[in-house]
Amino acid sequence: MSDVHPTNQLNGARRSLPCDSALRKRSAKVIPGGMWGHMSAKSLPPAYPQFFRSAEGVHLTDVDGNSYIDFVCAYGPMIVGYNDPDVEEAAGRQQARMGIANGPGEVMVDLAEFLVETVPAADWAIFGKNGTDATTACVSIARAATKRRKILVANGAYHGAVPWCTPWPGGVVAEDRAHLLYYDYNDVSSLEAAVGEAGDDLAGVLVSAFRHDARIDQEMPTADFAHAARAVTDRNEAVLIIDDVRAGFRLDLGGSWEPLGVQADLSAWSKALGNGYPIAAVTGKDWLREAVQTVYVTGSFWCAAAPMAAALATLRKLHRGDAVTHMARLGEKLRSGIESQAAARGIGIRQTGPAQMPLILFDDDHTLEKAYLFSTKALQRGVYLHPWHNMFLSAAHTDADIDLTLEATDAALEAVADVFG
Ligand SMILES: Cc1ncc(COP(=O)(O)O)c(C=O)c1O
Repeated sequence: MSDVHPTNQLNGARRSLPCDSALRKRSAKVIPGGMWGHMSAKSLPPAYPQFFRSAEGVHLTDVDGNSYIDFVCAYGPMIVGYNDPDVEEAAGRQQARMGIANGPGEVMVDLAEFLVETVPAADWAIFGKNGTDATTACVSIARAATKRRKILVANGAYHGAVPWCTPWPGGVVAEDRAHLLYYDYNDVSSLEAAVGEAGDDLAGVLVSAFRHDARIDQEMPTADFAHAARAVTDRNEAVLIIDDVRAGFRLDLGGSWEPLGVQADLSAWSKALGNGYPIAAVTGKDWLREAVQTVYVTGSFWCAAAPMAAALATLRKLHRGDAVTHMARLGEKLRSGIESQAAARGIGIRQTGPAQMPLILFDDDHTLEKAYLFSTKALQRGVYLHPWHNMFLSAAHTDADIDLTLEATDAALEAVADVFG
């Protein structure tokens, strides 16, 4: 791989991005704000490109021809490699036969069956396009099932980009969130207080697979918290909803809380499900079958067959390859390598979250100057890290990729030591 991979050729030399700059200028005229949302390079160091030309395996090439080993994976959707031949073949074959029609293809049933077979908390599945479709449907299903209104969400958690949950204020009115109540992740007493506040109007508790809020240390759910979330929803005949949109299929192929022995009533999935093809799913328990049929879940493209074929191929490949173990092992290798490099220089860093979805933050770095310098230096050596958002390992990363990455992080940490001491 390193033979053909040009990432290290520049050895830290500054890259110029003339095509990227030109596209940013054109974009500013016709696409207000660039429409980049969380994928905006505006909140990344200036050396980061906004626009990309191609993607293959774990390598991204920007519009100026610079290539990077990627640890952001399109913010999660890429899990078996960009342009994966098995996924592309399955999606292409389905698309050639039938992309969209007046109803779904048989692949929708195949995919639902696969999810029901492999996700222990799934007795049924429905499909959409984006994670927000799935989380929003979960909230509606919980309300429809319980005939109650209050949904509990963790302070600071991200669940999507529509008024009930978007972190940005534009276009949101108080009524959009009138029936949300808040608790702190991993804080059982704050969860119980919010349950108390909801009283007999509690429809459900929505909880992320782990605490993956940006710019702060990540937290795995404690067993106490996960079991408490299950217990309070059981006690109140309310719905436990796990938002597995971001973490789904990276921590456990059966659902992120399976290792904790806690099953949700509803789970929201998207991102990695189709290895980049637009698809989301809600899976749920039998007792919600009636309720889900009273919620109008549809969209012009929700039955598109190629993303479903892509999802089936992705899931089969993940199961065949013991992907979770692979991602965790490589994530640990990266983490421990960076830990030693930082310790050798006396640099205080915090690496949090699961190894396969790592976040690296520096001590005493409230303005992210160290993180920006570190990630810029790594980028200039051909490794695309994220300075403040959790990153993603994939089943396509190899030991050789991690070795090359550790060469880049070593040089990047040296630069941090030089500047910050
Ligand atoms: C935990 C979580 N939930 C929901 C969403 C929304 O998904 P989408 O952007 O596909 O609508 C995201 C997206 O980043 C997410 O990370």
